[in-house]
Amino acid sequence: MGRSYEPYLAEVLIDEEKLQSRVAELGRQISEDYESVKDLTLVCILKGGVMFLTDLVRHITVPHTMDFMAISSYGQGVRDSTGHVRIVMDLSADVRGKHLLLVEDIVDSGRTLEYITRMLKAREPAEIKICALLDKRERREVDIHLDYVGFEIPDKFVFGYGLDLDEYFRNLPFVGVVREGMYYHRD
Ligand code: IMP
Ligand code: MG
Repeated sequence: MGRSYEPYLAEVLIDEEKLQSRVAELGRQISEDYESVKDLTLVCILKGGVMFLTDLVRHITVPHTMDFMAISSYGQGVRDSTGHVRIVMDLSADVRGKHLLLVEDIVDSGRTLEYITRMLKAREPAEIKICALLDKRERREVDIHLDYVGFEIPDKFVFGYGLDLDEYFRNLPFVGVVREGMYYHRD
């Protein structure tokens, strides 16, 4: 991987200002919606959701806890999701009776979230809702309801703001489109 992201960047899709103002809006909306809810737990899906979560919670004014889960899809190095998902790191706490809000970077086929939701349901939380920063809706293969969406984006491979290019550049404060032909894998 080169030292700079610049050769990999075709265009900035969502700049820092747009991202931050939308994330703040989502935080305010979530705070309103969960005003009367006890036991809210934000479940961050690692690694991609980490930037989104840490910015989002600065705008959430209702009491909540955070937990983390790391997921990996099989078939790295391929463009299309195989639909198989593996838990690399599980939640640290029992979620029974809790209101879960899953915080995810991007929804593509929807298979990752479908899998996670199904698995978490078996642990009998009070409720599971989903907050995704990016939604590639035209790529959806399974029907999954997203309760909060930051931006709907076109079918382009993106990186930055939590999303990686071969594990690098998650720290970029914007979401950019990867230049055609550049090496990447997904996970
Ligand atoms: P899904 O299971 O097909 O919905 O894929 C969701 C996962 O694929 C996300 O959590 C991302 O890790 C990854 N992904 C999908 N599209 C992109 C992208 O454009 N850039 C980086 N990762 C992506
Ligand atoms: Mg990835």
